[in-house]
Order: sequence, then structure tokens, then C-alpha cells
Amino acid sequence: MVTIGTKINGEARTVDLDGGESAAEVIRDRFGLTGTKLVCGGGVCGACTVRLGETPVASCLLPATAMRDAEVTTVEGIGSPGALHPVQRAFLAHDGLQCGYCTPGFIVDAAAFVERWRAEHGTAEPDRATIAEALAGHLCRCGAYAGIYRAVAAACRGEHDEGPDVIVRVDGPEKVTGEAVYTADVQLPDMLHAVIVRSTTAAAEIGDIAFGAAPYAVELLPEDRRVRWAGQPIAAVAAETLAHARQFAADVTMAVKRLPFVLDPELAKSDGAPLVYAGRAERKTAPMSGEGGSPLPVSWHGNVRGPNSIRYRATAARHRVKDARAAGDAGLVELEFETHPQLHTSFEPHATVADWSDPELLRLWVSTQGVEMIAREVAKRYELRPEQVEVNAEYVGGGFGAKLTVGPDTVAAIELSRQSRRPVRLVLSRAEELTATGNRPGSRTRTALLVDDKRDVQAMIVDTESHAGVAIGTSVAALCMLVYQRTPRLARDTDIVTNAPPGAPFRGPGGPVAAWALEQTVDALAHKLGRNPLELRQQWDGNQRRQGLYTWAAGLAVWRDRPVTGSQTGRFRRGVGIAAANWMYFVDPGVEVAVSIEDGGLVATCACQDMGTGSRTVVARAVAEVFGIAPEQVTVRLGRSTATTPHGPASGGSRTTVSLWPAARDAAKKLLAEIGGPVTAAHNGASATAKRGGDRGLRAVPVTMSEIQVGRGFTGAVHVTEVEVDTRTGKTRVLTVHGGIATGRPHVPELARSQCEGSIIQGVGLALYENQILDPHTGLTLTANLEDYRVPQLGDTPEITIHFHEDGWDRVPGGGVGLGEVATISPAASVGNAIFNATGWRPTTLPVRPDRVLEGLR
Ligand code: FES
Repeated sequence: MVTIGTKINGEARTVDLDGGESAAEVIRDRFGLTGTKLVCGGGVCGACTVRLGETPVASCLLPATAMRDAEVTTVEGIGSPGALHPVQRAFLAHDGLQCGYCTPGFIVDAAAFVERWRAEHGTAEPDRATIAEALAGHLCRCGAYAGIYRAVAAACRGEHDEGPDVIVRVDGPEKVTGEAVYTADVQLPDMLHAVIVRSTTAAAEIGDIAFGAAPYAVELLPEDRRVRWAGQPIAAVAAETLAHARQFAADVTMAVKRLPFVLDPELAKSDGAPLVYAGRAERKTAPMSGEGGSPLPVSWHGNVRGPNSIRYRATAARHRVKDARAAGDAGLVELEFETHPQLHTSFEPHATVADWSDPELLRLWVSTQGVEMIAREVAKRYELRPEQVEVNAEYVGGGFGAKLTVGPDTVAAIELSRQSRRPVRLVLSRAEELTATGNRPGSRTRTALLVDDKRDVQAMIVDTESHAGVAIGTSVAALCMLVYQRTPRLARDTDIVTNAPPGAPFRGPGGPVAAWALEQTVDALAHKLGRNPLELRQQWDGNQRRQGLYTWAAGLAVWRDRPVTGSQTGRFRRGVGIAAANWMYFVDPGVEVAVSIEDGGLVATCACQDMGTGSRTVVARAVAEVFGIAPEQVTVRLGRSTATTPHGPASGGSRTTVSLWPAARDAAKKLLAEIGGPVTAAHNGASATAKRGGDRGLRAVPVTMSEIQVGRGFTGAVHVTEVEVDTRTGKTRVLTVHGGIATGRPHVPELARSQCEGSIIQGVGLALYENQILDPHTGLTLTANLEDYRVPQLGDTPEITIHFHEDGWDRVPGGGVGLGEVATISPAASVGNAIFNATGWRPTTLPVRPDRVLEGLR
């Protein structure tokens, strides 16, 4: 044990160290300065950056003893609400953040950079390369990079040295100062720390488990005690400190009967392959990789489930394609595409704090996309009354679809709290997050597209085999049936189960993979026919909203001036590609918002959450517009579900904003009508509630899945992307992306733009870098850290413009629908088409790694 003295944010502190702690752990857990975030734990992502003296350092790698006699500045010391640093004000004004989990690290480093820059260059603006280099050690999974560039450049220009704060996101001040408390930051008195014991083999039967001296332990195995993938939770232990819990976890022993396993989907299909699920009862336990409800009942053959087919004159489609193939018809294109799993890797890992010390009240803090969903499922699982469960998620550090269910972290924390009658915190490590919390499944898709001599579609066949590890229910081919001309067509989706980690819904589930295949097939056909690929889409596409986007795209200079495919011969070749996207309109008509007056101010309440998509700001703006005040004057209470909180939407399925906005606006209107004028303290206690409801006068809800209802009409997106391919190294750079979005009126335009920019960044990641890789001998995830699992960085960010086509959704309350998913679908496909335009070689396998480019060009 050693005692050191340090000065942190100007305050002298002493702390006892046992010698093994990092500075980040001490800053967070001992000094309670949780603005410093832990994401990668390996000095890669920059979220834990603090200043040691004047130098920004990654505190996760810094021994705590290095703080001895040093001056340490955390994000809390950079500025505070009311006294913000110019960089913090610039991030607020230019929306350089979404979920905010990476933001403190960016702020600490950007403040140091801007101070240096201003001292040396006055108010000159640095170019993008200089900013990218200065902040190269920082990652943002939400993809807020475009806003970060804008913010840092503006701060360097001196635009935020003084003047009133411009606040785009109402919870921005808490995020840029480190005051926002996420689940991973929650500390309760007398709290225990828990860790999960995971399988290190991909298939096994587990016998008795010995927990040694662990004070609290729980098993997490399924009923049949089978392990089906490496990383599967087996048990969890809790102890006084995280270090102790890790030690107890390492000491857990168990009887393990190893079983044969299969990881390769092609091998999994073969006769005699080890079966992931041996019979009907076991198959019923398979998790779902897609959103919404139970899997459709389809047949299984070994590890093959399906196909699940969508048909429209499918026999005609088959015959036409077969005949065209035999005749060598120039109007037929057949291609095959392959994709690999993409990981969500939310920067706040899955985390739960459970407090069941009072047997009559289970209090939870969960990093989730659905506080109400967690409350409901937990109450059902533990047979509790609604008033006995309370779920909190004040701030959520990203989700992207992977935080829509009650996960093992939540179950384990609850069970361990029930045992100990003490609060228990369980936060996944980055390795666990990158292994066990889901992925966008890999796939192999075969397409056939046939047109006649008038270029009208005569047949379309899409056949997809998805491999979501042990999970089922992936839809890819089916999504291809929703666009272009209604002709004879056949879509077949088949699951191949393997002993790989389970897939999970990921932003537009199936959509980007479907577009990767379909939109490149359309492009290939256009090239073969010598047609403009945009005009071909204009000819086929019956969606009037997307037609508006085609007109917009046709006018872009970058599209008009694109090179002739394959015409370039130099080392660096530029190309431009286009791809379109289609998605559903979802809504939760039961959503309610309550608006009340407390202490002379407006308060809006709903059991929703804000994972960086801006729900809090949407509600604030809707209420503020009605009352003619600034959104910051509205207190928005989200991130909490109790028995009495008005029903809120989950943050998924592009239904959140379109459900919240009308309910918040209508509740505000009711309240205004009730009080008859400006809000004063005399109105304290007044309140009004409004329900979103379905779309009036229309058959708006033909399909219902849980609380999601599918409204009438499809949304649309079109992306036009310019790339540069280095034919010597095989490296592709995305230079510019123009994103056109047809989802009606954006309720908060700045946030809508930020969502669309982030979608493009994630699409660039899918296209060029991201790929979960397993050890073929063990099934363990090799890409279990942020060095080996490469996500886009600031320097990878293209110049982005976003265009909103606002027509076509006037009948929907609020005039606009969700865009988080449709904006994600076509970026990667547009990169593929741009690479083809640049080089004449079509990439079919994701990600488009340099070695694949070099191989293709050979
Ligand atoms: Fe950067 Fe979410 S805002 S990780």
C-alpha cells in the first residue's frame, strides 16, 4: 500500500494505492470523477484522456502512481455549465456529439489542441488533415466526426470565445462537461462488483461448477447446460471490489465435456457436421438476430433453417432466368456477394446496476434502448408487480440495436443482488462487448436480375444464406423484394447456424447487406447495358419520394462529372457510385407524454431513453415550440420507467422520434389551452397528457409486432459517393458522400443531419474495415479489442452533405418519419459501386480490404 498526493482539477487530494490501479480507475472510482470514460482499456480510443500537467494522456494506461505530485485535469476541470471552455461551447453549437460517451476525451484533447493552435496561429482555421492528426487518438462509434470537425474548426477561428451558449442538444452541457451519469458510472453505497465467467470453448456440456471462496455466485447456463459458442456466459460472481471479483471468477472450476463444433457455414451445411441444436426443443431456444417477435415456423435440416420464401410468380421468375442464362441474354446479370459480421461495439458497454436490498422494490440502472421494455420483462421474469420494478437509464452510451433485450449482465446483477441484498454493478469489458453482445450477421447472397429490351425488369431472384452464429431469423433477401418493379420474383432467406457468437439486430437489420447485393447488381446491369444506373432506377422505382432524390442526385456535379468506368490508368483512381435504400415506416401509437408545471417551469415526462439519437431534445423542442420558449427551458424527464411513468417507445426500429414528437406537442397544446397563457408559478400542479395514436383516416397499421406498428408507405435514401483507390496498395479512401433522405420533415434538423452523417460513417466502416474474426481452432473472438477490430476514425471521415427531401409525409402527425435506419442502408453499397466506377473491378466481399482490391485488380 502506498499513499500519494496529487492535485486534481486544482484540488489537493491524497489516495491510498495498492500498486495495481490505473489512473483512470482511481479518477473514476476513488475521486468520483466519472466524466473520464473507460471504453477500450488499451489506449486506443481516447475516451479516458486527461491532462497530466499540460500533456493529454490516456489514463487507462497510466499507472495511478504517475499522478503523484502531479497536476491532473479531467473534463470536469476544463469547464462547467455557465463557465464553459470555448471548445465545449463549439461542440454544443456544432453538435459534435451524439451519445456523448467519447465526448469527454475529445474535449480534453481538443481544448489542448485549440489552445496550442490559437497561441501559434491566432484565429486561422486549421485544415481537416491537421484536425484529424491532432485528434487521431480518439474514436467515436456514433460517428459524430463531421460535427467534431466543424466544432474544432470553429473554436480555432475564435467563434466561441464569448457570447451566449448555442445549445443544439438540450443534454449537451452535461455531456461536454462530464456531468452526465451513465449506468457504467453509477456508484451506490455498499455496492458489490460482479463479473461474468464465460466459456472458452465453442461447444461443451457443463457439469458441476465450484465457485471456491466467491462470496456470491450465480449460474447463467440454459436448462440443458450446453455451451454453444465461445464467450457464452456460464456464471457470474460478485465481490467487494472488481479486482476481487475477477480473481474469484478466475478461480471458478467446472466439469466440462468438450463437444465437436462447427464455425464455417459451408461445413455446417454438410452431412455429419456437429449439430448446434439437436432437436425441436433445443431449436426453440435459439436467439433471434432480427427485430420483432418470434421466428416464423420453417423447417430445419441439420444446421440449416429454412428457406423462408417470399414469392410472386416465382415459377415464372425461375424459368425466365434459366432460359435467359441458356440463351446468353445480355439483359441478365447474376452475381454472388459475401459479407462478414460487423460488431455494434457501443462505447458504453452493456452494464447493469441492480439494487434489490429492499425485497419490495427492485431498482435497476441498465444501459438499454428500452427502459420500459426492461421493466416489463424483469417484472414478468421475477413475478413482480409493476410498482416493484424501477428502471433507470438517464444517459445511454450508444446501442445500435444490441441493447433491446434483457441481457445476461442484467440477469446476473439482479440474481447477485437478490442473494446479497446489496447493490451489484456489472459492466462488460471491451473484449466481452466485442465478443458476446451481438453482430450484424455475415451472409452469402446470390442475385439474378433480368430485363427485357425495353429495360423493364422481367425477373428477380435473391437467395441469401445468413450466418448469425447460434442465432436465427435474419432477413436479407426479403428486403430486396420491396423495391423496384413488381415483376416475377423470388426471395429466399436461409439461416445456417454455427457455433459462433449470436447475431443481434443492428441498425436497419438486413438492410445494408441486402443493398450491398441488390444495388450492386443493379449497377452491374446498368454497366452491361451501357445505361446510366441512376436512370435505370428512375425507370423502375415507383416510390415517388425516392424519385425526388434521384432528381436531386442527377443534379450533383460529382455525379454528372463522374469518370467513365475503367477509363483510368494511373496509380490513384477516382470513382463515383450511387445506391438507393428502402425501409419501413414504424410507429408506436401508444406512446404518451405528460407535460406539467413544476416550480413555475415546464416538465415533460415519458418512459423513453436517449441513447444519442436526441429523444430528449425532440421532446423539448416540441413542447418549447408550442409555448414559444427556448428548448433549454423545458425540463425533460426521460430514462426512467416506473409503474406510473407514461408509456414510452424503445429506441429502435426508427419509431422513437415519430412517436414522441406528436405526443409531446399535443400534450403541450392541451396544457397551454388549460392555463391560457405563459407559464408562471401560479400554474404549479397543472398538467396534461397526450397519446400519439395512429395516423388519422388511414389504414395505418396493417402489421403489428409488439409495440411497433408498420405504417403505410416506404421511406427512401440515395447515397452518391466518391472514392479514391490506390491501385498500388489496394487502399480505398472515401472522399465525399452526398446523402439524400426522404423521410419528410426532420423534427430537429441538426440532429437529423447528425444521425445521417453517423450512418455514413458506420457504412464506411462496414464497407472497408469492420469484420469480426474467430479463431478457427477455438471459436474465440480474435478481434476482441479496438486495435484488431477497426472502426472508422476521424481521418477516415469523408466530406458529407445531407439533403432532406421533405415531401410525401404530410399525412403523418409531425410531417416526418424515422430516418435512423434508412440512412444506414445504402452507404456501403454506394462505396462498392464507386470502386467499380474507379477501377472496373467490382468488389463483392465485405469488407473491401486492400488485399481483396489488389487480388481483384490482378
Ligand atoms: Fe461518440 Fe457516441 S458520441 S461514441
